[in-house]
Amino acid sequence: MNPTYICLKTIIMDEKIKRNRETIKPKWTDLYKVNSAKRQGLERPKQFIEVDDDTSVISLVNEFPNIRQKTLTEVIAGRRSLREYDSKGLSFEELSYLLWDTSRIDSYRENAVFRTIPTAGATNSMETYVFVNSVEQIESGIYLYLQNRHKLALIKQNDGLKDMVNDALLKQLRGASAVFFFTCIPSRTEYKYDFCAHKMIAIEAGHACQNVSLSSEVIDAGVCAICAYDQDKVDSVLGIDGVEHFTIYCATVGKKKH
Ligand SMILES: Cc1cc2nc3c(=O)[nH]c(=O)nc-3n(C[C@H](O)[C@H](O)[C@H](O)COP(=O)(O)O)c2cc1C
Repeated sequence: MNPTYICLKTIIMDEKIKRNRETIKPKWTDLYKVNSAKRQGLERPKQFIEVDDDTSVISLVNEFPNIRQKTLTEVIAGRRSLREYDSKGLSFEELSYLLWDTSRIDSYRENAVFRTIPTAGATNSMETYVFVNSVEQIESGIYLYLQNRHKLALIKQNDGLKDMVNDALLKQLRGASAVFFFTCIPSRTEYKYDFCAHKMIAIEAGHACQNVSLSSEVIDAGVCAICAYDQDKVDSVLGIDGVEHFTIYCATVGKKKH
């Protein structure tokens, strides 16, 4: 008998497991019967987060003269989860590069966004926040990456922030120089794909984490993907509501120790 079959038979499947499995196998053909927000002609959710004019904003660089590129084969072969980081931190150019390769938007129009990562139906569910711990020229704090402007907007700075981030990550900060928080605004994708949206939103964040992992390899850094975090605490530290906008994936980043 197939061992997988035995395993499935012995699981006592509770309702939560059943329900969660359903979200990763939505019946696409049922989507055509649903009166989605788009079909109803409702207003499309905003594609980007706007910040107030008085928000402190840092322009990142989009040329990387000090970064020696590697081949794709090299970076794929080199990638391993990294959970111990060198204390020297990232340069301004390196953080700019990681965001440029991971979360930037190449172009957009009223109903579509095109970025470095694929986004389901060009709906762009994802936002990126960064906790800067140790990056040259950037003060420690929580920043929102303005993805269509390649800038960082300061969200929060205070003395206890590092401990709060570490606590929210269930003690997995591990001295990383930066943490990428991939958040989602589900309504952007639900607008078009209704109950099918949630699987795609999660996959989109996975694409982003892969990009930050591979681009980190280029700069002799490494990443640890993190899903085991305290949802409420992470959302609260980023200043997002946890309902219409919440964290879906995190990635600690830092230089390799030699
Ligand atoms: C979706 C996802 C969530 C993960 N969450 C965590 C986490 O919370 N903490 C952690 O230390 N590693 C986490 N990891 C890293 C895995 O443990 C790691 O990828 C696995 O052990 C394989 O090792 P490798 O990445 O070096 O190939 C996660 C990986 C993925 C793909």
